[in-house]
Amino acid sequence: MKSLNQYIYPKTLKRNEHGNLELGGCDLVQLAKRHSTPLYVIDEKTIRGVLQEYKSAFSNYKNTRLLYASKACLNMGIAKIVSDEGFGFDTVSGGEIYTVYKAGCDMSKVLFNGNNKSPEEIELALNLGVGRISVDNFHELDLLNKIAQKPVDILLRITPGIECHTHDYIKTGQLESKFGFDMEQIDTAINLILNKYKNLNLKGLHAHIGSQIFEIKVFEDELYILLNEIERIKTKFNIELTEINMGGGIGVKYTEQDEPVSIFDVAQKVISKLKDKNLTLYLEPGRSIISTAGVTLYEIGSSKTVEFNAHKYISIDGGMADNPRPSLYGAKYLAEIANKTENRTVEDVTISGKFCESGDILIEKISLPSPQAGDILCVFNTGAYNYSMASNYNRMKKPEMVLVNNSQSDIIVKRETYDDLISLDVIPKRMDK
Ligand code: LLP
Repeated sequence: MKSLNQYIYPKTLKRNEHGNLELGGCDLVQLAKRHSTPLYVIDEKTIRGVLQEYKSAFSNYKNTRLLYASKACLNMGIAKIVSDEGFGFDTVSGGEIYTVYKAGCDMSKVLFNGNNKSPEEIELALNLGVGRISVDNFHELDLLNKIAQKPVDILLRITPGIECHTHDYIKTGQLESKFGFDMEQIDTAINLILNKYKNLNLKGLHAHIGSQIFEIKVFEDELYILLNEIERIKTKFNIELTEINMGGGIGVKYTEQDEPVSIFDVAQKVISKLKDKNLTLYLEPGRSIISTAGVTLYEIGSSKTVEFNAHKYISIDGGMADNPRPSLYGAKYLAEIANKTENRTVEDVTISGKFCESGDILIEKISLPSPQAGDILCVFNTGAYNYSMASNYNRMKKPEMVLVNNSQSDIIVKRETYDDLISLDVIPKRMDK
């Protein structure tokens, strides 16, 4: 069965009677006028739709715990939706833990991950009652054991040595990865936990092999390795580990060339291998949950046609600070002009951002209906790793985020102001005249 991550466009995207794009029943051109641009727009039906797909796909395996990888996109509004659908959270920083806590989510469903958790972050996690900590390395075993006043439930993050075919920067399970214990280190870690670290209660193993993955096979390989290790550890140490965490990684469709797998197909394969086991399965998807739900609106401003090759640049009022993915990973996106859905005269252009870098190109080559200043550009599939990776480069204000549903739009993150930008700046007293 097809799942929502296999579509480029959010579930409720339409062309309305004014010839404008509409999302969640809201006219995107009007939305851009009302809220200004750049504007992140999240379609509530799509994000809830994917959360429900995950639940239904894994409903045949009762011991499944679904966590949302907060790093994909987190603020209190998103946290509310995710927890409302029964998901817990995979977090990797004090900031993510604090946000989830402040949104009133159940902290026992929170997992704290990361390869260099600070003592301050560990204290916060323990004080706020996060349910699991995934320990990444020897330094952390020692640190956590010292900070914890009573036994904490942990997972061991391991590096299964699986090569998945995705961008080098978002692979994590290969042998030379900076994350997790190497397979050869697992026994030493377990010995330490059993004999030295009395405050650590080992519940299971955790792995995450990468992101934007299109093959099911690598998930099967990962599961095979995790299950083998559980068995091997049982025989060698006479301990029963009851939990495995397979991480996230299911891909999404940014362009026609992308062919992500269906959540249902992955679930079926995974469940078939777990059926006779008494294991709790954790999953922590991020991108596949929120990417398709998000679009970004920009207003087109200046343009430039390069004399010698007639190449045309169209500039928008955002770029690499609100979406660093094209310049970081060469990521590709599709876009349409929200106010010109009926115009068929197309022009090949490059969409450039407004930041002071030649590499600030959002879309290298795209055909659009004669783009002009004032038009509203709608870029698709920007829900994941856009807002969460946004910066204030060039002292630009971070965009607003609105949630749309049933013709209603609600601000879930306000637009930054110039005063916000200077609010943490301090001029040393001695420089006062
Ligand atoms: N679990 C762990 C331990 C992770 O490191 C990640 C992502 C996830 C879960 C969620 O993976 P997902 O389901 O979203 O693929 N900034 C990059 C992506 C970095 C992913 C980092 N880890 C990008 O924009 O493509």
